[in-house]
Amino acid sequence: MAAKQEANRPMQFTMNELDHATRYKLLVNTVHPRPIAWVTTIDDQGRVNAAPYSFFNAMGGTPPLLAIGIGSDTIRKGEREKDSLRNIRAAGEFTVSLVSHAQARAMVDTAAAAPSGEDELAAAGLSTTPSSLVAPPLIADAPVGYECRLWQYIETHPGGGIVLGEVLATHIDDRFVGDEDGKLRIDAPAMDLVGRAHGSGWYWRGSDQLKLDRVDWPLPERS
Ligand SMILES: Cc1cc2nc3c(=O)[nH]c(=O)nc-3n(C[C@H](O)[C@H](O)[C@H](O)COP(=O)(O)O)c2cc1C
Repeated sequence: MAAKQEANRPMQFTMNELDHATRYKLLVNTVHPRPIAWVTTIDDQGRVNAAPYSFFNAMGGTPPLLAIGIGSDTIRKGEREKDSLRNIRAAGEFTVSLVSHAQARAMVDTAAAAPSGEDELAAAGLSTTPSSLVAPPLIADAPVGYECRLWQYIETHPGGGIVLGEVLATHIDDRFVGDEDGKLRIDAPAMDLVGRAHGSGWYWRGSDQLKLDRVDWPLPERS
């Protein structure tokens, strides 16, 4: 293991001395929980594809951007693009649905390395609802869905990279949207979203939360 330990210092891993698997392990076991983008795309024959991606987050409000890290397809070998990435680059459109605890098992099922063009959604017992601004549909019953247009693609290695998507429309299940004194209120805890946790096969369920209000400077005295 290419790790260095000096007295009174945390263990150091110098990333460019490590193999891919160890670098990946260090990051996914430490940057967590990560939200999960359940991406749907359409291929050049009109077939719907779905797969989860947890190198995922929101990157800003104006423009409203989502970022997704998609690695090259190592299971089917070579430096080929995964189906989601190939379809996003070809069509310039995709949707992202967020994953509730109720749909977590089905989400994992859609990560199986199905041959291109297989109906992964039907195999996982899922159905879709049409989008209004893009061709790829949204996953039915997901608490939240985003219709996205490819904003920029940054290739970081052969066959893989970072997709930046501009959110054209956000859909939230009526159950989670309300009004509080004339202001939009979104009941995020009720969505029961799951995130990716440390090791393979582990997920977070956001039921244990912490509220910490921001304060003005100078910081208040604390005992
Ligand atoms: C919860 C979860 C998160 C995942 N996150 C990623 C990710 O961030 N990047 C990636 O390249 N693959 C990720 N995968 C693996 C892909 O989902 C998997 O390779 C899938 O088969 C790709 O399908 P596609 O070829 O239809 O796009 C993840 C799998 C699971 C179960």
